[in-house]
Amino acid sequence: MDILETITSRRSIREFKDREIAREEIERLLEAAIQAPNHRMTQPWRFYVLGPEARRAYGAALGARKAKRVEDPDAAREVLNKVAEKHASLPAMIAVAVVLDENPEICEEDYASTYMAIQNLSLAAHAMGLGAHIKTGAVMDDPNSRNAVGVAEGERIIATIEVGEPAAMPEPKPRTPAADQTTWLP
Ligand SMILES: Cc1cc2nc3c(=O)[nH]c(=O)nc-3n(C[C@H](O)[C@H](O)[C@H](O)COP(=O)(O)O)c2cc1C
Repeated sequence: MDILETITSRRSIREFKDREIAREEIERLLEAAIQAPNHRMTQPWRFYVLGPEARRAYGAALGARKAKRVEDPDAAREVLNKVAEKHASLPAMIAVAVVLDENPEICEEDYASTYMAIQNLSLAAHAMGLGAHIKTGAVMDDPNSRNAVGVAEGERIIATIEVGEPAAMPEPKPRTPAADQTTWLP
């Protein structure tokens, strides 16, 4: 598969086969990630590969947030447990953090570079016959999920990526043609 085909056929994978992803496969993905361009070679990305216990803890943090919206205590507990178990049973999960710089310009560039690393990882996964799903949300700043990840002070989690062998390949979502979003200047 050439790079353009990899880019156009990549999808966010929401259902995975049960096969656990080997450490070597994750290492290959991370090696692809760190090839991303980054201004001043700050290499601002940090990766946290969550094992089943850490995934359960992250899922519990997310589940607890969802459970707050459920009135019945039994139902709320069920929501929490379900989300925790769903995360524990993922084939692999990586939390991606960026090192925060006190200079806002560098901070912005570093955020951009780290997302380029995330895209590299997603494309590499696809090229390797795997799939990835980027997840974000307020949970990333929750002290409980930060604790589950063990993210260092001075770093911010900017995505979690679920990785596994795709159980199903979603249909592509319709996209506005680039021509409609492009201005050509003389
Ligand atoms: C910055 C970012 C955050 C995302 N956060 C979520 C998320 O929290 N939950 C989710 O289901 N998908 C999330 N996605 C995946 C998008 O929903 C997905 O990329 C989009 O629907 C297009 O589908 P495709 O990736 O299959 O082309 C995120 C993607 C990006 C780039």
